[in-house]
Amino acid sequence: MDFKIRQSRREDFDTLWRIDKECFPPGISYSRLELAVYMRRPRSFTLLAEAAATDNKKSSAKGSQVADSPVGVVGFIVAEANRRGTGHIITIDVLPTARRFGIGSTLLSTAEEHLRAAPCHAVELETAVDNLAALAFYKRHSYDLINTIPGYYSNGVDALVLRKVLIPGSNPS
Ligand SMILES: CC(C)(COP(=O)(O)OP(=O)(O)OC[C@H]1O[C@@H](n2cnc3c(N)ncnc32)[C@H](O)[C@@H]1OP(=O)(O)O)[C@@H](O)C(=O)NCCC(=O)NCCS
Repeated sequence: MDFKIRQSRREDFDTLWRIDKECFPPGISYSRLELAVYMRRPRSFTLLAEAAATDNKKSSAKGSQVADSPVGVVGFIVAEANRRGTGHIITIDVLPTARRFGIGSTLLSTAEEHLRAAPCHAVELETAVDNLAALAFYKRHSYDLINTIPGYYSNGVDALVLRKVLIPGSNPS
C-alpha cells in the first residue's frame, strides 16, 4: 500500500476521531473532547498516514482484481514532547484494513524523529496488558517495559508503561 506521512490539519479531526473509534473499544477510545484536548496541547503534534488513491485505479486498469485497500487517511499518531525532555506517545491508530503494511512503523519512527529534534532523550507510552498486537509492535521497535499501572483503563485493565531511549548517552534533567 502506498502512503505518505503529513502533519494533520484542522479539517482532518473528524476523520481521526472516527479512526480512533474503529481502533479501540468503547470506553477505551477517546471522546471527541479528549482527543481534541490532546491534539491541541501546546507541545503535542499529530502526524497522519494518507494512502494513495491511485492504487485501485492502477490495478483495475490492468484488469487484475481491484484491490479493496482503503484510500485517504488510514492512520495517525499523537505525541508530545514534555519540558523535561521526555516524549510521550499519546495514541497510535491504524485502520484494521491497513495494518501490517508498515504504516504504524513509519508513523512511530517519524514521531520519534520529531521527538529527538525537540530534543527528547527518551519516549514513553502506556498500552493495555491484553493488547498483544501493540506489545509485539513496540517490542519490534525496541521499547522496554518499565512499569505497570493497575486498573489504568476505564474497563479495569492494567497498563504497561514502555520506554525507549532516543538519544543514547544523553543526561536527562
Ligand atoms: C499497533 C498498530 C498501531 C500497528 O500498526 P501496523 O501498521 O499494523 O504496524 P506495522 O505494519 O508497522 O507492524 C510492524 C511490526 O509490528 C509487529 N506487529 C504489528 N501488528 C502485529 C500483530 N497484530 N501481531 C503480531 N505482531 C504485530 C510485527 O512485528 C510487524 O512486522 P511484520 O508485519 O513484518 O511482522 C495497529 O495494530 C493498531 O492501530 N492497533 C489498534 C490501536 C492500538 O492498539 N494502538 C497501540 C496502543 S496505543
